[in-house]
Amino acid sequence: MANRGGFSSKLGFIMAAAGSAVGLGNLWGFPFEVGAGGGAAFVVVYLIFCFILCLPVMITEIAIGRKTQLNPVGAFKALGHKNWSIVGYMGLFCGVIILSFYNVVAGWAFGYFIEMLLGNFEIGQNFSSFTSNVIKVGGYATIFMFSTAFIVSKGISGGIEKAAKILMPTLILIILSLTAYAFTLDHAFEGVKFYLVPDFSKITFPVIYNALGQAFFSLSLGMGALITYGSYVGKNDNIVTSAALITLTDVGIAFIAGLMMFPFVAYLTNGTMEGAGQGAGLIFTVLPGVFQSLGSTLGVIIGSLFFLLLSFAALTSTVSLLEVPVAYVVDEHKVRRSKAVWMVAILIFIIGVPSLLSNGASDFWSSFITYFGAESATDFMSFAQHVANDSLLPLGGFLISIFAAYAWKKHNLIEEITQGNDSFKGSVIAKFIDIAISFICPAILGTLFVLTVLSRFFGITLIG
Ligand code: PHE
Repeated sequence: MANRGGFSSKLGFIMAAAGSAVGLGNLWGFPFEVGAGGGAAFVVVYLIFCFILCLPVMITEIAIGRKTQLNPVGAFKALGHKNWSIVGYMGLFCGVIILSFYNVVAGWAFGYFIEMLLGNFEIGQNFSSFTSNVIKVGGYATIFMFSTAFIVSKGISGGIEKAAKILMPTLILIILSLTAYAFTLDHAFEGVKFYLVPDFSKITFPVIYNALGQAFFSLSLGMGALITYGSYVGKNDNIVTSAALITLTDVGIAFIAGLMMFPFVAYLTNGTMEGAGQGAGLIFTVLPGVFQSLGSTLGVIIGSLFFLLLSFAALTSTVSLLEVPVAYVVDEHKVRRSKAVWMVAILIFIIGVPSLLSNGASDFWSSFITYFGAESATDFMSFAQHVANDSLLPLGGFLISIFAAYAWKKHNLIEEITQGNDSFKGSVIAKFIDIAISFICPAILGTLFVLTVLSRFFGITLIG
C-alpha cells in the first residue's frame, strides 16, 4: 500500500471534499428543486436532512476511509467484513453512473461559458436545440472528461488538492459578486420571498424524497466518495470539525445559489415567478436572458463568469467521482494511477453516451422508460438520476450506518473519530452520532428508501 499519496493538510482535505460537495447539485440542482418543491418549505426539509441525517453519515464515511486507507470496496473487506464489500461495489456503480451523466451536464456548462464569451445570449431560448446537438455537446463533454482525468492523474496532493485550492476560492468570489448584483435588480425582493417564506402546505411526499436525494447528492454521500477522500486524510486531523465545515460550506453555497437565482427569475418574470419550477433547465434557460439585459459588454463578462463558475464547481466534483473507481482499480488491481485514470475515464465517457443522446438527440433515449402509473415517459438521463441520486445514495447511507453501528461496531467508529479529536469520546456530539448512526439514520433512510422506490417507479404512494 506504499505511496497512495494523501492530502498535505487538513485544509487541503476540507477544500477538496467541499469541492466534491459543491457542484452542479448546488448551483443547478438545488435552485430548481426549490422551485419545483414550492420554495422555502423545501429548504426547511432539506436543512433538517443535511444536519440530522447526512452529517453523521459523512463523519462515518470519512472515519471508515481513514481507518482502512482504502477505496470503498477494499475498506469493508479490510474491516473484516468481506460480504459488506457489496456496499462498496454498489457505491462504485453509483459513482460511475453519476459521473456518466454529470459529465454531460458539465459539458453544457462549459459550452455555455464559450457561448457567453461569444455573446450568444439566444442560447437560453435555444436550450433544447443546444442539448440535442450531439457533436457540440459531445465535444464539450470530451474536453470536460479530459480535464477531470488530467487532474486525477496528477494524484491527491499534486492534482486534486491543488486544483481545489485554486478553484474553490475563485468560485466563492464569483458567486458572491453575482449574488450582490442580483440584489440590485428589479423585483429581487419577490424572488427572495418566494425562496425564503415557507408554505408548508407544499410539503408533499415527493418534496420530501427529492429533498433527501438532493441532500445526499449535494453532500457527495452514500457512494463512498468520502470513504475514498477519507482514506487520504491524516490521523491527526479532526474528522468532526472537518465534516461540519464541509457540510456548512456545501449548504452555504447552495443557499447563496438560491439567493442569486430567484432574484434573477423574479427580474425576468416581473415578479410573478412563473416557471420557477420549470425544472432542470432553469439555470440554462433563464440566465442567458438576464445576462443579455445587462448590455453586450457587461453581459458577456457576467455571463461568461457565471458559467465559468459552474464549470469550476462541476470540475471539483467530477474529480471526486472519478477518484472513487480509480482508487479501486489502483488499490485492488494494482494498476498504475495514470493508466487506471485514462482507462476508467474512457469507459465512463462511453457509459455516458445514452445520457448525451437523451436530451432530444435520440427518441429512444429521450423517452426511455415510462414508470408504472406515470403519464409520460422519462428520458434516460433523468432515469439515471432517479436510480442513482434518489434511490441508491440514500440506500448507501442506510447500509453504511447499519454497517458502522452493527457490523464494524460503534465503539470502533467512536475510537477512530477520537483520533485527532481527544475530547470526542464521551462528548455530547459522540452521543448524538451514536444515536444517529444506530437508530435515526437506519430508520429514516430505510423507510424513505422503500417509499421512494414505490412512489417513484411504481406509482404507489403510501403517504402524501
Ligand atoms: N456533490 C456533487 C454536487 O453537488 C455531486 C457528487 C455526488 C459528487 C456524489 C460526488 C459524489 O454536484
